[in-house]
Amino acid sequence: MCGIIGYIGNENAVCKLTEGLSVLEYRGYDSVGIAVESDGEIKTVKCRGRIDDLKKKEELSALSSHCGIGHTRWATHGAPSDTNAHPHRSGRVTLVHNGIIENYKELKKELEAAGKSFVSETDSEIAAGLLDVCYLESKDPVTAILQCARKLTGSYALGILFEDRPGEVYAVRCGSPLLLASSEDGCYLASDMTAFLPFTKKYYCLAEGEIACLSAEGATVHRDGMSAFSPAWSITDLNAEAAQKGGYPHFMLKEIFEQPRAIVNAVSVRARNGLPDFSHDGIDLDFWRSIQRIQIVACGSAMHAGLVGAGLLEHYAKIPTTVHVASEYRYNPPLSSEGTLVLLISQSGETADTLAALRYAKSAGLPTLAIVNAVETTIAREADRRIYTYAGPEIAVATTKGYCTQAAVLYMIAAQIALARGKMTEGHLREMIHSLLTAAPAAMERFLSEKREQFVRLAGKLSKAEHMFYIGRGLDYSLSMEASLKLKEISYIHAESYAAGELKHGTISLVEEGTPVIAIMTERDLYDKTESNVREVASRGAYVILICREDAPSAKVSDDVILLPGTSDAETLFCALAAVQMLAYETARARGCDIDRPRNLAKSVTVE
Ligand code: G6P
Repeated sequence: MCGIIGYIGNENAVCKLTEGLSVLEYRGYDSVGIAVESDGEIKTVKCRGRIDDLKKKEELSALSSHCGIGHTRWATHGAPSDTNAHPHRSGRVTLVHNGIIENYKELKKELEAAGKSFVSETDSEIAAGLLDVCYLESKDPVTAILQCARKLTGSYALGILFEDRPGEVYAVRCGSPLLLASSEDGCYLASDMTAFLPFTKKYYCLAEGEIACLSAEGATVHRDGMSAFSPAWSITDLNAEAAQKGGYPHFMLKEIFEQPRAIVNAVSVRARNGLPDFSHDGIDLDFWRSIQRIQIVACGSAMHAGLVGAGLLEHYAKIPTTVHVASEYRYNPPLSSEGTLVLLISQSGETADTLAALRYAKSAGLPTLAIVNAVETTIAREADRRIYTYAGPEIAVATTKGYCTQAAVLYMIAAQIALARGKMTEGHLREMIHSLLTAAPAAMERFLSEKREQFVRLAGKLSKAEHMFYIGRGLDYSLSMEASLKLKEISYIHAESYAAGELKHGTISLVEEGTPVIAIMTERDLYDKTESNVREVASRGAYVILICREDAPSAKVSDDVILLPGTSDAETLFCALAAVQMLAYETARARGCDIDRPRNLAKSVTVE
């Protein structure tokens, strides 16, 4: 949700900033801008639209600089427009902001009363105004930022230039992420590591309340009441290719095809001698034994992965599990008791609602465990325990490998708790883990390459629909929720997911001649029941696609069928996931949609 970049060094800052913003575009893409220090002045170029629109601006090519900041926006306060685009300037301060200043209305009144005026509708410009006032008083950038930060409530990551401090970029964060990086050619500031991966692997995660100053001499960090220090750089093992398309037309397709490998990465470190073992994550058997019930809390696809996880946890580990939308959790908290674990799931590790739920759970004294992909992010750091999914950078806004690895990790947690509680035999557990580690990734890889043509053909039919349904029972119902979300977000076709037996209680009235209904049917015990539901919609004219196992007896009840290979549940689940992802992808492609950057969305939602 908004991407920030900053650079100071001996190379062309305009190139560095625009390159970094192209990578960060997944965080928001309705307006974009940069501000650089040039000939003792701060020059700003910004516009509504995307980085390619900015690059077309003549003013941009005229700029020459070694020091600047940039921003790509997902609008919250004020519509996407040239004026609301960042950077924002007030007096000697120019800044870019990610997050929300919650008390901006009160601050605006105070500042206007003191003579300040504002041109945009953003909360960010108010932060610039406040900082300028603090700077006028203190004349020292760090003191001014500290004073300003004390008055701001909400979440923010700020990249700042002061007109009379040439060659210096300042930064501060509270809630929203911000990293520093160091390379031979200079220092960087970015919301996400992927923005500076092509230039360096040396990074530092700015802690809450720390203030950074980047200059030709390097980076220094100031913490309240302490003397300035040089950051202790870490080295990431990610490489720049991880954030490039690698020959695929879209990041989403690349990430779908990366899933078999991602499952192996997520599972292999949690398997020892064929059995589940989370010592890699510093979690021992006693911890798993102490859990009596689980509340899973997440948003969007991560919440859908949680629904699959709840099914697995109740089925295999016999542990009562409920799933909660993170934005509801702290306002309508479920009842908790001794032994309740709060399990948070987040690909980005930044989602504001999930973070708020985590903080709520901690304040209520509940133990917390987070499943996170992006390492060292706020949710990962603040949770009592964390399990990384190791999916690698996910760039497409619609998650695929993020969700897939969350499901794989939840499978392993279910296996681990089943072991700790003696609910499954070792033999059964070994089979399950073998299937997750080898059979499922291999089956998914084959399935993805063999079925491509079928997905394209079916997507051609689906692409003409304006409404459609996914139905399923049990885990298939949970998966169908993700399937319909995926389709909606990237193809803009209205899709709803229904428990197969529930559709007839009202919603079936929407089914008419040709309405697509996609039935997922992998639960062997429920074949007959789901088949009846398929017949109900088929006899009312629905165009039915059935996604079922190769051995399902009822494959003939539908207009089209996607056969899933594999004998184990894990193989079937991950192939079914690949099928619904590919249907969404090819349908969006057939409709000419902007697959990696769907309208109105942002990948990491850092506002509540
Ligand atoms: C946004 C994204 C979704 C994602 C959700 C949760 O809404 O568009 O794709 O599932 O946030 O994100 P998280 O990073 O917490 O998994």
